[in-house]
Amino acid sequence: MPRQLFVTTALPYANGHFHIGHIMEYIQADIWVRFQRMQGHTVHFVCADDAHGAPIMIAAEKAGKTPQAFVAEIAAGRKPYLDGFHIGFDNWHSTDGPENHELAQDIYRRLRKEGLIFTRQIEQFFDPVKGMFLPDRYIKGECPKCGAKDQYGDSCEVCGAVYGPTELKNPYSALSGATPVMKSSEHHFFQLSSSRCLDFLKDWTQDGKLQSEVANKVREWFAVDEAGHGGLGDWDISRDAPYFGIEIPDAPGKYFYVWLDAPVGYLASLKNWFDKGGAKAKYGEARSFDEFIADPAVEQYHFIGKDITYFHTLFWPAMLKFSGRKLPNNVFVHGFITVSGEKMSKSRGTGISPLRYLELGMNAEWLRYYIAAKLNARVEDIDFNPDDFVTRVNSDLIGKYVNIASRAAGFIAKRFDGRLSGDLGAEGDALVSALSDARESVAALYEQREYGKALREIMLLADRVNEYVDQHKPWELAKNPEHAAALHHACSTCIEAFRLLTVYLKPVLPALARQVEAFLRIEPLRFADAAQRLGAQAIGSYQHLMQRVDTKQLDALFEPPAPAAPEQASPGGEEIAPVITIDDFAKIDLRIAKIVDAEHVEGSDKLLRLTLDVGEGRTRNVFSGIKSAYKPEELVGKFTVMVANLAPRKMKFGLSEGMVLAASHADEKANPGLYVLEPWPGATPGMRVR
Ligand code: MSP
Ligand code: ZN
Repeated sequence: MPRQLFVTTALPYANGHFHIGHIMEYIQADIWVRFQRMQGHTVHFVCADDAHGAPIMIAAEKAGKTPQAFVAEIAAGRKPYLDGFHIGFDNWHSTDGPENHELAQDIYRRLRKEGLIFTRQIEQFFDPVKGMFLPDRYIKGECPKCGAKDQYGDSCEVCGAVYGPTELKNPYSALSGATPVMKSSEHHFFQLSSSRCLDFLKDWTQDGKLQSEVANKVREWFAVDEAGHGGLGDWDISRDAPYFGIEIPDAPGKYFYVWLDAPVGYLASLKNWFDKGGAKAKYGEARSFDEFIADPAVEQYHFIGKDITYFHTLFWPAMLKFSGRKLPNNVFVHGFITVSGEKMSKSRGTGISPLRYLELGMNAEWLRYYIAAKLNARVEDIDFNPDDFVTRVNSDLIGKYVNIASRAAGFIAKRFDGRLSGDLGAEGDALVSALSDARESVAALYEQREYGKALREIMLLADRVNEYVDQHKPWELAKNPEHAAALHHACSTCIEAFRLLTVYLKPVLPALARQVEAFLRIEPLRFADAAQRLGAQAIGSYQHLMQRVDTKQLDALFEPPAPAAPEQASPGGEEIAPVITIDDFAKIDLRIAKIVDAEHVEGSDKLLRLTLDVGEGRTRNVFSGIKSAYKPEELVGKFTVMVANLAPRKMKFGLSEGMVLAASHADEKANPGLYVLEPWPGATPGMRVR
């Protein structure tokens, strides 16, 4: 019986373009979906932009756009990535679509009817300038433990302390700089701590379907210690206006917290797909969305990253359960991808750019293959390592697999009129049977998301084919017309084996498989085709299927994008100096200095002698070439910036113990003017400039 599946990936926040982490998640899910379809199952594979929430609202405001326009712009940029990496979503929607408003409100009403929603007054920081409650990440202040300045409302980046925003000393709003005030307002809560919810969730999460690491993690979240701490709390699902989100029914000025309506977006995208006729046109689905999603035979799966496990294994199933809806069959959690061992940061946007990868003409299927080779069914992080990438792609994909076809196809065309032999000879027959027999174990590995193992098994099969080639040496057989039959057997065996390997690789390499299907003049390959033989049929002419990776492309991928073309004139009359690292910069110790005295230097028409206080309990003597621009009396009492760790320099007039910073054009004659740096008010002597 064909299965009916509904599969999603996490819905990406609509405040940025895809990074390699998103692409990795989509590749993982897409391989699984393609595999299921090759098994003859029907899969509705959907995603959407996660449009709501304070960060997007604030980013839109900064960009001078409405949140709707801001999100639409991001959405418009999705297609090149998805097409480029062969991610075959059936539908892409938005959590701000009408379906999601309707479904989220409906789910909420049912939860309320179930008695699982209550309201309570809570006190929170409010920004009086912005007129809004501040999410924790927009409150900054001094760490209550170590006193470090400018720390976020949840934890200190300097000492690592964890605390609540109200514990910060001298808190301020990161949006306006204003001092926040405590203000109370009514919030809506979902009663996750109720015994009904708890009993249900303990059951749903611990019945063996979840990955063991995930089930263990969830058990930690359930655990209550002797002091009664821990365990599931009730979930605050409302936010006050202004907020970009979905209005809560019967609660003017209140919106759903983004994480309430985000997973509902899975259903909304599916509904949108059904309502516009996509499911019917593409898969002959006759039912409505409501009928389909209520059918117990429909299986629902979500692919997500480990950071959002809590939402998908606790909140989401509880919402579905108590609103009378069908539950997900499973949530498949993956680890994070790092690049050369480095974590990606959303803000710094490091890592490798998926779009640049495509623009450099790199083959998307190299990356699909490489990522698949590293993936397993566990919640493990994987690393993109450039050298490893080159090796895996060139030696496995090209060296072991693609070469099989290129070695045999020419002889079939030239010697046998493009026709395969139905008879493969005893050894050929045995080899092809062995490859064919692997179909169930390969399929089982795909089903379990053990892609790395599947590819290793497939490459072992490819090794056997290459051994066969080395033993039979078609190029030797071709020299002697008496060996024509043996040559025909050997080359037909290679092509048949190549077809079987293509069946097994097709979930990972869909575009390459299409080329192979055209070359062999066969229908789109399904898994069941691995049980059949090609027989004595005519095949097309072989076109080169895939290039090797050129390491130069990887160099280019990691090279920072070229700086914008220089203006006609260089800034300030000179080119920007070669790039340095932050460590290089940190070697220069810049300090705020107070000019306590300044005087002319006898016998010098360039220098002034400055006496500087750098907060060391003594003063420093510095000679500075600023006489042309300043009178000594203009300088006394002012603050400036000095290089405090420059080696002292003996001059004709005495020892100079540092250097004061000033700006000037490279060509001082053509562009006169010299400007000493002065800090903004508030800086005091000895403060480091960094
Ligand atoms: N909008 C939420 C998800 C809502 S689902 C109803 C969100 N968005 S996200 O853009 O931050 O992340 C989208 C997906 O990308 C998540 O599954 C997340 O785990 C995944 N990844 C983000 N960085 C990643 C890596 N470095 N590696 C692999 N996946 C990563 O969370
Ligand atoms: Zn601290």
